Amino acid sequence: MTNALSPQDRAKYLASRAALADVTDGMKLGLGTGSTAAWLVKLVAEKCRIHGISVTCVPTSEATGALAQSLGLPLATLEETGTLDLTIDGTDEFDPALNLIKGGGAAHLREKIVALSSRRMVVITDATKESPQLGSFPLPLEVLDFGMSATVGHIRRALASQGLGDAKIEQRMKNGAPVRTDEGNAVLDAHLGAIPDPAALASALDGVTGLVEHGLFIGIAGKICFADLEGNALTID
Ligand code: 5RP
Repeated sequence: MTNALSPQDRAKYLASRAALADVTDGMKLGLGTGSTAAWLVKLVAEKCRIHGISVTCVPTSEATGALAQSLGLPLATLEETGTLDLTIDGTDEFDPALNLIKGGGAAHLREKIVALSSRRMVVITDATKESPQLGSFPLPLEVLDFGMSATVGHIRRALASQGLGDAKIEQRMKNGAPVRTDEGNAVLDAHLGAIPDPAALASALDGVTGLVEHGLFIGIAGKICFADLEGNALTID
């Protein structure tokens, strides 16, 4: 089946399959968002069917929830589950210290809430997302519409404190309209280039009023399962 896939899709599938070993009977499981997470959702549903196991799933987006439900996976809210055993999610970029940039699918707010409510986060991705220093992928910033230009000014000051004051910041658009998160907020993308200190930048952005959430995941991921375009599956933990 994987022969029909592009090398990148095959890598995403192989990474998801590697992470599937961490999914066990009775788990409370956070499900990520994106094309790699969609593979995982399909594989979890298949594992439950074939092995007769059951997991309770908390999706990180409406799209993932709809997919999981269509495959018969039982869904719950974080309020119902409390702490999750595991979250498995994709990423847009990762570094050797397991720090991430997420939010390419505009779901990083719910993804971060779910990951931080989990005992463990496993990331599934392909080797093209690996980077020695985060910042090639534009940093997603979910912001309120109210006072957006004031918020952008505060974001600029936070970036400048990290030597990134010249960054281009643009509002994410699709088909001529602003992209909206599941929360109804707008998304900005900050083109940073190499981020000198991702943890310090995350702290600086954490203090910006009007910025609902940024896509830096620092010290949250416990393991990264990824595959290269030749089909070799690898793990960093
Ligand atoms: C969504 C995300 C995704 O995990 C990220 O964009 C990766 O997506 P894909 O697996 O499609 O490459 O952070 O907000």
